[in-house]
Amino acid sequence: MEQCPIALPFDRPGPFDPPRALAGLREQAPMTPLSFVDGHVGWLATGYEAARTVLADPRFSARRELMHVPLDLGFAHEIAGGPPEAGEFLRMDPPEHTRYRRLLIAQFTARRLKQLEPRIAEVTQTCLDRMEAAGSPVDLVREFALPVPSRVICELFGVPYARLEEFQNHLGTMVDTDAPGEEAMEAYTAFLEFLAGLIADKRKAPGEDFFSGLVDSGELSDEELTNIGFILFGAGFETTANMLGLGTFALLSHPDQLALLRGDPSLIDGAVEELLRHLTIIHFGPLRAALEDVEVEGALVRKGQVVVVSLPAANRDPKRFTDPERLDITGSAQGHLTFGYGPHQCLGQQLARIEMRIAFPALLERFPTLRLACAPEDVPTKDMMIVHGVKKLPVAW
Ligand code: HEM
Repeated sequence: MEQCPIALPFDRPGPFDPPRALAGLREQAPMTPLSFVDGHVGWLATGYEAARTVLADPRFSARRELMHVPLDLGFAHEIAGGPPEAGEFLRMDPPEHTRYRRLLIAQFTARRLKQLEPRIAEVTQTCLDRMEAAGSPVDLVREFALPVPSRVICELFGVPYARLEEFQNHLGTMVDTDAPGEEAMEAYTAFLEFLAGLIADKRKAPGEDFFSGLVDSGELSDEELTNIGFILFGAGFETTANMLGLGTFALLSHPDQLALLRGDPSLIDGAVEELLRHLTIIHFGPLRAALEDVEVEGALVRKGQVVVVSLPAANRDPKRFTDPERLDITGSAQGHLTFGYGPHQCLGQQLARIEMRIAFPALLERFPTLRLACAPEDVPTKDMMIVHGVKKLPVAW
């Protein structure tokens, strides 16, 4: 007998854990029928292998016009709707997607990332100086988790220093969950205008930065560049910011793990991977639509059905990870799916890793007595967002 479709669960037991119901579902079967807000019935992938299959199999599409949304949080238009616009490669399939992906990979060179490292270290120290000057207690999100990646994005885009603040203000308002809708919309429009101006400047005088490289490739129209710029911002800024905020909260809430890391800074690479796995901040999707009937781990996904891939559930699959519910910075988080898998796997993952490997140790070194400045349950979290994180993190030292 066919199982009754469930609604996407959202009963998160704590700030670091995915919805409680996911583990029970995964135990029953790696794929569960899922009901969507428009009446569509698709699937929820909770098993590690099922998630990888859906993300890697070319019979599953990322195209926007094929999507349905499993719950309405006001961002349905970002996920489902008409076909992708020029340059919106996150919602395209190969070979269209591959063309953009190649152009971007050509700019994310090891040399450019290496060059960014000292700049990221500088930016981090500047933010820490400000945080220290502001004095204990402060909101770590405002002083550290947001400004570090926002300045790194400025480096990536080659935003001139004179316009840094303007750019950062647009970014800040767009991701501010408490900003009224109109303000966020205005910031969005202003950001697009800002990007258009930046593209025009770089066409005239390209610099050494990543975005100049894309403009200078001569292969992309202004429309494509604007959409790519927007994806880079969306994918690269809020994600890393949330990892820095939620990651610090997790470390401060696990004193044994924090002590281990403070005692042996060489553990940082493993700690970053484990924080990525344990927190799996992309809590909603990726989504894929079946282009034909496909069997996934015993479930028959019919042509046209949409699968919500639960990365948090996959990253806690006991069939793949030992003791997956525990945060263990010395454990093996290798193979986690936090950056996705398959053709759309995160393009900025090395950059994100570099940022975290620099930022966490710098923070801990600067403030040896860093602690939460409120009760853990009073830290406001972004529960109903695509990207999970903390809205504020009051800390003291
Ligand atoms: C901790 C931080 C980050 C996380 C957790 C993360 C996660 C992800 C995930 C799960 C995907 C796959 C989406 C899908 O399959 O539909 C993705 C794609 C992508 N990410 Fe990231 N990301 C992070 C940081 C970054 C950074 C710093 C950048 C660049 C500045 C970036 C750029 C991208 C781009 C361009 C894609 C689309 C790739 C494609 O469609 O081919 N990400 N990211």
